[in-house]
Amino acid sequence: MEPVTYVLFGATGDLAKRKIYPALYNLFVDGKLPDSFSLIGLGRRDWSDEYFQTSVEQSLRNFSRRELVNPELVQSFISKFRYSVLDIGRTEDYKKLLGIIEERESTLGLTPNRLFYLSVGPEYFTTIASNIAESGLGSTAGWKRLVIEKPFGHDLQSARELNEQLSKSFTEDEIFRIDHYLGKPMVQNLEVLESANPIIQALWSNRYIANVQITASETVGVEERAGYYDHVGAVRDMFQNHMLQMLMMLAIHLPHNSNAQEVRKHKKQVMEALIPLSKSDVRANVIRAQYAEGSLGGNPVKGYRAEPGIAAASMNDTYIAAKIQIDDFFWRGVPFYIRTGKRMKEKSTRIVVEFKEALNQASSVINGGAPNLLHIEISPNEGIMLQLNTKENGELKPVQIQLHESSKEIPEAYENLIYDALVGNPTFFAHWDEVELAWAWVQPILDAFQDNQVPLHSYEAGSNGPAEADALLAEDGFHWWFDT
Ligand code: BG6
Repeated sequence: MEPVTYVLFGATGDLAKRKIYPALYNLFVDGKLPDSFSLIGLGRRDWSDEYFQTSVEQSLRNFSRRELVNPELVQSFISKFRYSVLDIGRTEDYKKLLGIIEERESTLGLTPNRLFYLSVGPEYFTTIASNIAESGLGSTAGWKRLVIEKPFGHDLQSARELNEQLSKSFTEDEIFRIDHYLGKPMVQNLEVLESANPIIQALWSNRYIANVQITASETVGVEERAGYYDHVGAVRDMFQNHMLQMLMMLAIHLPHNSNAQEVRKHKKQVMEALIPLSKSDVRANVIRAQYAEGSLGGNPVKGYRAEPGIAAASMNDTYIAAKIQIDDFFWRGVPFYIRTGKRMKEKSTRIVVEFKEALNQASSVINGGAPNLLHIEISPNEGIMLQLNTKENGELKPVQIQLHESSKEIPEAYENLIYDALVGNPTFFAHWDEVELAWAWVQPILDAFQDNQVPLHSYEAGSNGPAEADALLAEDGFHWWFDT
């Protein structure tokens, strides 16, 4: 693996502590970091290298999936970390940083490959990218890459502006846009589910599939993120990115052993085939809702409008469900029902593919059979189940066959993604084309919400969402599977 200097903006922040350091440590233990690896943490706080290293060690103790049993290993890991104070808007700080990096590169004999990881608010992305270019940090004889977190824009126009700004300093090939759902092993698995399994391939179309359901329900509420969440809602926070990415990954038909370019090309084709909603279509196809007070695990919980920092008359969506149609050869006529919400009954991300009734319908319907289902549990549990009908005491009875159960040691999404960014594999990062097409599809929904053309429904905290979302499927003769 090529040597690299990992330049981390936002090194004292929450994401770095919870996700990035534990992920890097696990990669280190698994031998998946280059031997010559150096990390420079950047933040506004005036920390010494030693203080930074201790804080990294602490975050490993708090958040790593592995116990820290070997102190020498931990020591050898944190010895690769250095810290430098940086004010994002001060050009001198970038010059100083360049000096530090060049010195480290020459002391360690590193090829000057630089990975710039922006673990900071999106409002800083363009300033940092242009300062990297102007200070000379980006003019390196090795490669350079920019890794950024979501949100990528607030709507179609702001996303385009952001992309235009970033592309002045980095090419598309150098930009790695993280959508952490693409790092989840089960989402990555979707790439091969159809292409590597002839049995599934044979059934993977509107001829046999009745509908597809993609759910990401969370039990958490708005938490301490009122300032952010009340302006974005479920539609921007989860739907435009994670939910549409899962839809793309499920709906692609890939040639076997596809490379990153092919995966991206086919994902783009799926997005291009989504039937656009006009602003006036939104009402019939999209349900928005907000959680009201209720209870979770036996404890009463507040309604959204009573949460700290949320306006008493907030019209923000904490839940969204939508019916999406893909107008291509394989999926024409198959509804994709997508839903996501906060403060729901359980934490579960899953996909259910419901197959059409048996050709000889009488046998299954009369004797109580159920449709065949392919049920993919993505997180927090992982698994693939197939529901088939069997005969018991003369009656049809559905049984669930477990096709895959996860091992205990599942690498976290961030481990997969950071590793891929280090080796330069873009397969599971969002390409600009996908991001732009996703915003373009979502834009009429944003407009309709903004103009209050869609009613804001309510659901009890701790429930499976609003009744209107059940009605969305019932109109087509379906229902959500596996709501507990
Ligand atoms: C983030 C959202 O992108 O994903 C959060 O901003 C959400 O609001 C989180 O809670 C869910 O991620 P996961 O991996 O826990 O399903």
